[in-house]
Amino acid sequence: MTAPPFILRAPRPEDVAAYCGFLSDPDVHIWLEDRCQRPLSLPEIQAFVLGPAWCRWAIECDGAFVGLTGLEDYDPARGTARFFIVIGDRKLWGRGLGEAVIRRVLEHGFHGLGLRKIVSDFMAPNQGSRRIHERAGFREEGCARDDSWRRGGWVDRVYVAIFKDEFDAQSQGAPS
Ligand SMILES: CC(C)(COP(=O)(O)OP(=O)(O)OC[C@H]1O[C@@H](n2cnc3c(N)ncnc32)[C@H](O)[C@@H]1OP(=O)(O)O)[C@@H](O)C(=O)NCCC(=O)NCCS
Repeated sequence: MTAPPFILRAPRPEDVAAYCGFLSDPDVHIWLEDRCQRPLSLPEIQAFVLGPAWCRWAIECDGAFVGLTGLEDYDPARGTARFFIVIGDRKLWGRGLGEAVIRRVLEHGFHGLGLRKIVSDFMAPNQGSRRIHERAGFREEGCARDDSWRRGGWVDRVYVAIFKDEFDAQSQGAPS
C-alpha cells in the first residue's frame, strides 16, 4: 500500500484548534490516555500541541495538519524514548499513513537522535495501533492486565519495543 504523501514539521499555533476538534471525536480519543476521556481545556490542548517537548512533530498531508507524532520520555542513560502518534483526521485511517509515520519516526530516533531502544504501548483493542507497531517491527514485552476502563469494561495495555539493530536489519531487508 502506498501511504498518502506527508511531511513532519514543527507544530504551529494554528494547529491547536484542529487538534481540539480531533480530540473531541470519540473514535480518536477512546484509546488515548485517561486524561483525554473528558473534555480538555484549551490550555491543556495548547500544552499537548505547543508545550515543551523533546521530539514532537505535526503530521501534515496535502497542506493540512492531520495529527501529532514523536518521541517522549527520553532517558539518556538508557538510550530510550517512547513513541506516540495521533492521526486525528479519520478519513486518512487505513491507508498506510500510520505505518509510514512510525517508520519515519523510528528512522529519526535511531539514526538522527542515536537511540538504542524505542518503546511504546497501546490498549489491546486498538487494532490499528497494534498493526502499525507490528509492521514496524516492534515486539511485545509485556501486558498490564485490566489496565484502563473503556466502553464499559477493563482493557489490557500491551507494552512493545524495538531495538536499533532490529530496525536496521528489517530496513535492509525492505524493498527500496
Ligand atoms: C492508530 C493509528 C495511528 C493508525 O493509523 P492508520 O493510518 O490507520 O494506520 P495504517 O493505515 O498504516 O494501518 C492500520 C492497520 O490497522 C488495521 N485496522 C485499523 N482498525 C482496525 C480494526 N478495528 N480491526 C482490524 N484492523 C484494523 C487497518 O486495516 C490497517 O491494516 P492493513 O493495512 O493490514 O489493512 C490511527 O488510527 C490513530 O491515530 N488513531 C487514534 C489515536 C490512537 O489510537 N493512537 C495510538 C495510541 S497507542
